[in-house]
Amino acid sequence: MKIKGKEYRTIWFDDKNSIVNIIDQTKLPHKFIIKKLKTINDAINAIKTMEVRGAPLIGATAAYGIVLSIVENNDQSFLKKSSEDLINSRPTAINLKWAVDRMMKKLSGVNSDKILNIALKEASDICEEDIKFCENIGLNGLKLIEEIYKKKKDTVNILTHCNAGWLATINWGTATSPIYHAHKKNIPVHVWVDETRPRNQGANLTSYELNEENVPNTIIADNTGGILMQRGEVDMCIVGTDRTLSTGDVCNKIGTYLKALAAKDNNIPFYVALPSSTIDWDISDFKEIPIEERNSEELSHIEGLDENGNVKKVQVYPIKSKSMNLAFDVTPAKYVTALITEKGTCEASKESLKKLFNK
Ligand code: MRU
Repeated sequence: MKIKGKEYRTIWFDDKNSIVNIIDQTKLPHKFIIKKLKTINDAINAIKTMEVRGAPLIGATAAYGIVLSIVENNDQSFLKKSSEDLINSRPTAINLKWAVDRMMKKLSGVNSDKILNIALKEASDICEEDIKFCENIGLNGLKLIEEIYKKKKDTVNILTHCNAGWLATINWGTATSPIYHAHKKNIPVHVWVDETRPRNQGANLTSYELNEENVPNTIIADNTGGILMQRGEVDMCIVGTDRTLSTGDVCNKIGTYLKALAAKDNNIPFYVALPSSTIDWDISDFKEIPIEERNSEELSHIEGLDENGNVKKVQVYPIKSKSMNLAFDVTPAKYVTALITEKGTCEASKESLKKLFNK
């Protein structure tokens, strides 16, 4: 997708210097900075501090983290420790473990003289596959937008939460991919962008990337979606996910569940877009999903531009107040109208998912 008219991916490898390039998302929307990851610790740190974030992108970064680990020290015990540290860097998005396990499986028993090339090829395959899957999610989701447009014959209003955009993947995004495809086909779309406190991924990232692609959008406070739905100003919701269980229960950014409840109450379709790398086939009780709790400073402090155009962080909560920062919640399958995957759209249920993915 484009930034200032130039095509970018969110992550790419520089073969000549053995360096991984990322877009530092902690600096967006005010500064566009490309950061170079040179060591396994750089990769782990980028995931922890959310310089890269979004389930598919942290998976891809972990895959390249394995590459960096081999460049740094081509020793099996170092690689094993790197893989464990990567998996532990953020607990909720299953793509992280999925990518590390896939890399380690590919590398098991490989000679040390061949291991780097094989790791590089696998990390690159993970990225190419994600792009293809996200494009297919877009084409499958496009049909749903088209159906609404055919009936309504007017702008389709889509509500989204957090950033499940191209910045969260390698390209296209998951929730945004149907939107970009509709926009490219000249179907009039408008996106209600949930601000997504506390880190404001909606305001800082989703609105930013939609602006760069000229997709009309409006940022709303996280609590505004309900009244917009009651007023008939939302035609559909599309969100992403960090881990969807084989039962169809959807774990995503905190606040997703409340949007799904409001959508149900107002008879508005609530779709979840995901690549198969986000499906957790092992857990069936959503209470077993590890929910990340982040530093409460993400709530109590806020960053923005000061009057001189410099980025400044300020405290907004009373100094003595305690705050709690759970990063994800779970939307039970019964509130999900359908899952939009690279293989097609299916009901959020074990039977439908198993059938779609031949499990
Ligand atoms: O904490 P984040 O910003 O990594 O959370 C991201 C989300 O919740 C996204 O909706 C999810 O990863 C899907 S990304 C295609």
